Amino acid sequence: MQDNSKFYITTPIYYPSNKFTLGNCYTTVACDAIARFNRMLGRDVFYLTGTDEHGEKIAKIAKENNKTEIEYLDEMIADAKELWKILNISYDDFIRTTEKRHEVVVNMVMKKLYEKGEIYKSTYNDWYCTPCESFWTESQLIDGKCPDCGREVHEEKEEAYFFRLSNYTDKILDLYKNNEDFLLPKSRVHEMVNNFLKDGLKDLCVSRTSVKWGIPVEFDKSHTVYVWVDALTNYISALGYGSNDDKFNKYWPADVHVVGKEIVRFHAIIWPALLMALDLPLPKQILGHGWLLFGGDKLSKSKKNTSKDVLDPRILVSRYSSDAVRLYLLKEVPFGSDGIYTQELFLNSYNANLSNTIGNLVSRTISMIEKYNEGIIPSKKEIIDLDSKYIEDIKSNIKNTFDFMKIYDISSALNEVLNIFNRSNKYIDETTPWILAKENNKGRLDSVLYNLSEVILKGATLLLPFLTEQPKKIFEAFGVLEVKDFKNILDFDILESGIKVKHINALYQRLDIKKENEELWDLNV
Ligand code: MSP
Repeated sequence: MQDNSKFYITTPIYYPSNKFTLGNCYTTVACDAIARFNRMLGRDVFYLTGTDEHGEKIAKIAKENNKTEIEYLDEMIADAKELWKILNISYDDFIRTTEKRHEVVVNMVMKKLYEKGEIYKSTYNDWYCTPCESFWTESQLIDGKCPDCGREVHEEKEEAYFFRLSNYTDKILDLYKNNEDFLLPKSRVHEMVNNFLKDGLKDLCVSRTSVKWGIPVEFDKSHTVYVWVDALTNYISALGYGSNDDKFNKYWPADVHVVGKEIVRFHAIIWPALLMALDLPLPKQILGHGWLLFGGDKLSKSKKNTSKDVLDPRILVSRYSSDAVRLYLLKEVPFGSDGIYTQELFLNSYNANLSNTIGNLVSRTISMIEKYNEGIIPSKKEIIDLDSKYIEDIKSNIKNTFDFMKIYDISSALNEVLNIFNRSNKYIDETTPWILAKENNKGRLDSVLYNLSEVILKGATLLLPFLTEQPKKIFEAFGVLEVKDFKNILDFDILESGIKVKHINALYQRLDIKKENEELWDLNV
């Protein structure tokens, strides 16, 4: 199971145009689970996230708040970092596009493209959607509105530089054809081909003269760099492209860029075309995940959701723990599809998965060990019955977890881990340890308690990338020092003899759903 290769994973860099929502938390938590999983495989992981700080939208919001752009941004970024902290996000770097290290690389990229003849000057005369920071032609608009978000667009006519994206239609099609796993899930490839590539790509406007809040184009200072070209470059600027060759050569190309489905086209068409033009290797994979939906709509800050159910992730974390929020996000957005959030589903998921499935198994097992064996995990020498059917089931859950994580199917992987706990609760019902105790069947009872202890530790180990707090308490309760990797995950009969368990109170207290639901409404202002 161990692997010592490098692994570079990225989230999109978010617009700090508002406080981050549960929706933004989804990608960051998903990448965190993937990053942690790969670290436990032994890989040298570099996990990048950050913020996309230029463009019309940010300038407008700062002004509305009577602040300079940087004053406004600094506050928002402090808040974002605090949110990642309470969610235990283990990023290795946080890049801001207003940092010097980034601006230098954006200019290097623009210059190289210009010198190679990949960009040229002309006039832009089409439509622009400010919330999406996207250009559209008249024929792409739906009922005169932005085809992505359905909001108003406005006409733009200005001198601009264009990237020769039209030269890359066939190259991008070939990329998908020759590399079937480049864009996952596969349904996204059809979307790209049908919606954008089929009729041929158009050259892309890559500079603005009317937008002042941006990186000035060095060879023509009346222009600023189009915010998406600026933003995509973060994936290489954070590695020190052009200045830190060791780091860049070590981590580039990215192993996976994880993005929401609405921005797949920027990552699976524009970004590879830019990289081809720069003669740089392409990312190995783009993962376009679905949305967390609320009331049938995307839970996003730019489409205003007014319903009461939209909750600040900070409130959820402080009331129910980061494990609860992480579990919900990771479990409820199925691979490639959308997931739904409601307060009630959230509370029910807490009880079902955390209190019942995980919490119950751990406390039941510990109290049986206390009651029937003076708090000592029976020694493996006393095992008379390995219960091979049970162990085989668990081994297959473990293998499936690894297989799903390999293709980034996080929710299925997490379900396999939860099945380890479910299967073990069933094992208790099958083996009825209380009857074994009554019948003085010590050999069999010891075997059951031993098997349960060992399997709980496997389960807790596999939970670590997903939930970051309570699994540690499980190790503590079973007298095991910190677990850092997946070595031995498939080896059974390896627990030391004589370990004394530590009594723990319920890992996750069962919630009174009705009461919680009402209290939450009141908190949600
Ligand atoms: N700044 C650009 C990305 C540039 S990347 C080079 C951007 N930013 S954003 O703030 O709008 O964030 C978009 C990302 O947030 C989505 O792609 C997705 O990863 C995440 N999400 C925002 N709302 C979401 C949901 N409701 N559900 C899941 N993820 C969503 O686009």
